[in-house]
Amino acid sequence: MSNQAIIDQLNEILKHEWTGVAQYSQAGFICEGVWREVYAEKFLDDAKESFGHAQKVGAKIVALGGVPVATRNEIKQSRNLQEVLQFSLDFESKAVEMYTQALEMAEGNRPLVIFLEDILIEEQDGVDEYTKLLRNTEGSSAATKTQEKSA
Ligand SMILES: [Fe+2]
Repeated sequence: MSNQAIIDQLNEILKHEWTGVAQYSQAGFICEGVWREVYAEKFLDDAKESFGHAQKVGAKIVALGGVPVATRNEIKQSRNLQEVLQFSLDFESKAVEMYTQALEMAEGNRPLVIFLEDILIEEQDGVDEYTKLLRNTEGSSAATKTQEKSA
């Protein structure tokens, strides 16, 4: 796999991480009502995690001889917490998908594989967390299923 192909993939990932910085920050800013006490900080922590990943990926792109992108994709935002949680799960799932693709491209380059795997674990943690949060939200399909079973 050429360096350029992996640099291009890492730049797509970097763009996604910059999107996460903005999307999670915005979610933290606009979160209101009683749930603000719980979620404002969580969203800002997730923004920080995306920034941490952006720092690592940007540095790696330069090490490989590339130029890191300084752009992001459109963010998704809502004042409905349920929707924000779904956007967050979608965001984390997309990250898992992108790092998994990068890993396939990095095959044979052990240090790069480990670098990507370390971040992938954190992305999967994000998927797991938002999956569980949505599962216990009133009206979620999982909650409905549980109610059906116990009825
Ligand atoms: Fe990330």
